[in-house]
Amino acid sequence: MAIILAAITTTIKAAGLLIGIGKLTILPILIVAMAYFNYDLMDPENHPHVTKNLYTEYDFIVIGGGSAGSVVANRLSEIKEWNVLLLEAGGHETEITDVPMLSLYLHKSKIDWKYRTQPQNSACQAMIDKRCCWTRGKVLGGSSVLNTMLYIRGNRRDFDQWESFGNPGWSFDDVLPYFKKSEDQRNPYLARDKRYHSTGGYLTIQDAPYNTPLGVAFVQAGEEMGYDIVDVNGDQQTGFGFWQFTMRRGTRCSAAKAFIRPIHQRKNFHLSLWSHVTRILIDPLTKRANGVQFIRDNRLHTVYAKKEVILSGGAINSPQLLMLSGIGDAKHLNDVGINTIQHLPGVGQNLQDHIAVGGIAFLIDYPVSIVMNRLVNVNSVLRYTITEDGPLTSSVGLEAVAFISTKYANKTDDWPDIEFMITSTSTNSDGGTQAKNAHGLTDEFYNEIFSEINNRDVFGVFPMMLRPKSKGFIKLKTKNPLDYPLMYHNYLTHQDDVNVLREGVKAAIAFGETATMKRFGARFHNKPLPNCKHLPLYTDDYWNCVIRQYTMTIYHMSCTAKMGPISDPMAVVDHQLKVHGINGLRVIDASIMPTITNGNINAPVIMIGEKGSDMIKDQWLKRFKRSHSNTTSGAS
Ligand SMILES: Cc1cc2nc3c(=O)[nH]c(=O)nc-3n(C[C@H](O)[C@H](O)[C@H](O)COP(=O)(O)OP(=O)(O)OC[C@H]3O[C@@H](n4cnc5c(N)ncnc54)[C@H](O)[C@@H]3O)c2cc1C
Ligand SMILES: *[C@@H]1O[C@H](CO)[C@@H](O)[C@H](O)[C@H]1NC(C)=O
Ligand SMILES: *[C@@H]1O[C@H](CO)[C@@H](O)[C@H](O)[C@H]1NC(C)=O
Repeated sequence: MAIILAAITTTIKAAGLLIGIGKLTILPILIVAMAYFNYDLMDPENHPHVTKNLYTEYDFIVIGGGSAGSVVANRLSEIKEWNVLLLEAGGHETEITDVPMLSLYLHKSKIDWKYRTQPQNSACQAMIDKRCCWTRGKVLGGSSVLNTMLYIRGNRRDFDQWESFGNPGWSFDDVLPYFKKSEDQRNPYLARDKRYHSTGGYLTIQDAPYNTPLGVAFVQAGEEMGYDIVDVNGDQQTGFGFWQFTMRRGTRCSAAKAFIRPIHQRKNFHLSLWSHVTRILIDPLTKRANGVQFIRDNRLHTVYAKKEVILSGGAINSPQLLMLSGIGDAKHLNDVGINTIQHLPGVGQNLQDHIAVGGIAFLIDYPVSIVMNRLVNVNSVLRYTITEDGPLTSSVGLEAVAFISTKYANKTDDWPDIEFMITSTSTNSDGGTQAKNAHGLTDEFYNEIFSEINNRDVFGVFPMMLRPKSKGFIKLKTKNPLDYPLMYHNYLTHQDDVNVLREGVKAAIAFGETATMKRFGARFHNKPLPNCKHLPLYTDDYWNCVIRQYTMTIYHMSCTAKMGPISDPMAVVDHQLKVHGINGLRVIDASIMPTITNGNINAPVIMIGEKGSDMIKDQWLKRFKRSHSNTTSGAS
């Protein structure tokens, strides 16, 4: 009886998520099948419960239960003597968020903040209102619930560089143990390399349970181009390989599933969902953060922090909350009517992101790619729900990864400047529904470029520029905490970025020309883009125009509250992630990166959560031990 009830609830929940997202005929079947077969229904780790009656005071308050905040809440509540409250603006994950193939459905759903940048002429010209869509998770697990689960740690050089900026303890050798601390590597061949991998951590990493015949070909084509086949999280980054995914048994392993579900019985851990934090309370005299205000059930609540407030709202919301709380550029705060408590001009600045060029598609002659209306059927639903494999476990066709160097990078250095995300799908593979909607493409653009190849077999290459020099920023629109901040991407405003991304596109075209890919009949879908038609095809000028049209964020916003020494006026937190000039407040999330890492950033953000938690424990446990030993020795 309980199971049937749970099945009904699940069905209702999943259906609720889908309202307003559009429809795919298979979904009702999928939902029913999942409701019947879903193991999670009998899984004691299923949805953590929300604490109804909160205390008025906690040792630690964590704001935001995303990739980093989930880790912090877990690690701090390991100490039984500490009470920890996690406040999250969104609600629970659903059955749909678990399915790797359906992640595009989550964009613009109720678990997305649905941010859009200000219109600018340098990029996103093919998007509605020339505004890029900055999808961000508003759900327990944060953006790790909507992401494509690619697990990439970055390059040794990234972290060594962070340390060289004046951040002791952040070199690659220092952070590697924290990557390994979370990791449960399920691929035995990778797990054997104990220098880089480990097993038994909270975060499950596995290979894709399902690949199309194109997957192997992608990696072979890389070999043909002269690259090594590598473990992209191992010794050498340059090369081709298969992705590693934050997946567990073919379903998404979000930060919430990994770090929060296993701890929800801890008595010293309280969870409050649908709780939108509006301000961090800071005593202006002592400059100590001592609590937070949040809205839940349409009421304003206040909770106090005895030890620390930890801000893990992500790269948009963390700087927004700092500014709302009086920490930021004094002139800007004054302009919007906020009293400055601490002048830190770096808050919201230095915004970095990874962009790729969307829509680089190659038509092929064989029905081997992922075409949604062919592969998503009753059979694949049953395979997913019962045997945990099949096409629904594919992360929207992401099969292979490559790290390559353009002529602008130092090739002997193993610090590549372009990443390829190689897919057995492209924008046309769902007939102009989810991908077009998620990316915010205009009808005119989609129709002119893709409608003639709707649902045709293709593969795609997304060349992504790794170390952008263009930097964006966010600022407050008003002092109302519920108003979205203004976001300026500034993509491709630095000429070096234009050059690197253009060369990345050319390399992607060359990849499609390899004999390996030609065996599938590969030919570039070379429809000239509407705004670039006046330029001769395949020239640098043409590509320079192309990259500004279907400019695709890879959703790696970061660096908006960067870590650095006090001597750097743009630094917001120190190397222990404490906000400069404020006591009892740390930022622990993607915002603290001084420079963006060389790859997808979720794994580094989780590492930041692990390392940040250890620094907090270090400080408070030392203090605890000290006072304890003074007491026992009778010295006090
Ligand atoms: C569509 C998409 C695809 C991606 N694909 C990949 C990928 O394949 N691989 C990869 O490595 N990275 C990927 N990323 C990026 C990666 O997931 C993010 O960089 C990472 O999750 C950021 O972690 P975070 O902790 O900084 O922020 P988030 O995970 O975004 O967490 C912030 C949390 O704080 C909450 N919050 C914010 N403001 C408030 C408030 N005022 N009150 C209460 N709660 C608040 C939010 O609701 C959210 O839950 C992707 C991201 C997206 C959106
Ligand atoms: C390229 O990198 C290598 C290895 O780090 C270094 O020795 C060399 O000086 C670099 N070359 C240039 C032109 O920067
Ligand atoms: C406790 O001990 C530490 C080191 O042993 C000392 O520095 C500190 O002053 C002592 N505190 C008190 C209150 O005695």
